[in-house]
Amino acid sequence: MSTASFLVLFLEPVRAYLEEDSVSEILINGPSAVYIERKGKLEKVEAAFASEAALKAAAVNIAKSVGRILNEEFPRLDARLPDGSRVHAVIPPLARCGTVIAIRKFSKDLLTAEKLLQFNSCSPSMLTLIETLVKLHKNIIVSGATSSGKTSILNLVSGYISPGERILLIEDASELQLRQPHIVPFETRKPDKDGKGEVTIRDLIHSALRLRPDRLVIGEIRGAEALDLLQAMNTGHAGSMSTIHANSPIDALYRLETCSLFSGIDIPISALRSQIASAIHAVIHTARLPDGSRKIVGVAEVLPLRNGEYNVHDIMRWRTRAIGADGKITGDFEICDYVPSFKEEADVAALPLK
Ligand SMILES: Nc1ncnc2c1ncn2[C@@H]1O[C@H](COP(=O)(O)OP(=O)(O)OP(=O)(O)O)[C@@H](O)[C@H]1O
Ligand SMILES: [Mg+2]
Repeated sequence: MSTASFLVLFLEPVRAYLEEDSVSEILINGPSAVYIERKGKLEKVEAAFASEAALKAAAVNIAKSVGRILNEEFPRLDARLPDGSRVHAVIPPLARCGTVIAIRKFSKDLLTAEKLLQFNSCSPSMLTLIETLVKLHKNIIVSGATSSGKTSILNLVSGYISPGERILLIEDASELQLRQPHIVPFETRKPDKDGKGEVTIRDLIHSALRLRPDRLVIGEIRGAEALDLLQAMNTGHAGSMSTIHANSPIDALYRLETCSLFSGIDIPISALRSQIASAIHAVIHTARLPDGSRKIVGVAEVLPLRNGEYNVHDIMRWRTRAIGADGKITGDFEICDYVPSFKEEADVAALPLK
């Protein structure tokens, strides 16, 4: 079922945007403030709901349709709909402007390498480098801000895993669309209304490691599971990959540090840091530029710590050259004057670096 046909049952006032393919997100801040994202740009639109009661009823019905509860006691809904789109809703009084709903429409068109090149979201050399990183079983983190394209890029990166490998895929809400034949996908479970039955990413990593993975692919790292992933990466599960919310490749490493500490482990920060530096081999950083375009703005290698600090080196990056009167950004993808530490390894495997 398409996004439109499922959600229009509940959200008639925004039907036009549910049905328009170029709209990727619909953000409802109370009955009379609707924003949409089209081609990476946010804009306010005229659509409105008849009343707060009508909007809240719509949110409650969306929750019911997927077997979930949205009421005073459970005032927040985080749901994936049968069509793959994601809905988050918060009702008053927590949401002070009326019921708030954000819909991330499921994009039917997978962002393939060809499409990303066509959108100037990356360069052919970047794709070659990323393919080599995957083929060499490097552990990769895709970083970036909210909605910068992390999941889409993880989808691309995981696409380079060879079809013969056994991939254990763990997600909070199923989003990735891997095409390989040997995939074992898992999804976490939220606690029920009595707070029971929760299954976390940590639990699923624990299971995955006992299910003979060749590769672990984790949708997103947000908390203590960072530590489990790092330990897996450091103990023979090379070639694993995930995404993390961060503002730069180095910030991604600091975020992993913070997330690992959520687990309550008691190890010196210096030890944790060296574990991170040896576990992560490369960071692919994504961004949504001010003109709305999304790009891979950097591919960086993570080197061993230097004086106790992270040592990250760009291999390729995007450089903005000019911003036109219309706000359009021009620039190019640069290959940095830097020889990655895995050059020999790539040469031996006859894999190109650019
Ligand atoms: N390079 C790109 N060009 C055009 N659209 C893109 C590109 N990358 C991602 N998108 C679109 O941008 C939206 C956000 O992408 P995605 O879900 O990958 O981001 P994210 O960083 O994982 O977001 P979140 O922070 O919510 O997890 C989606 O609608 C996706 O189709
Ligand atoms: Mg994502």
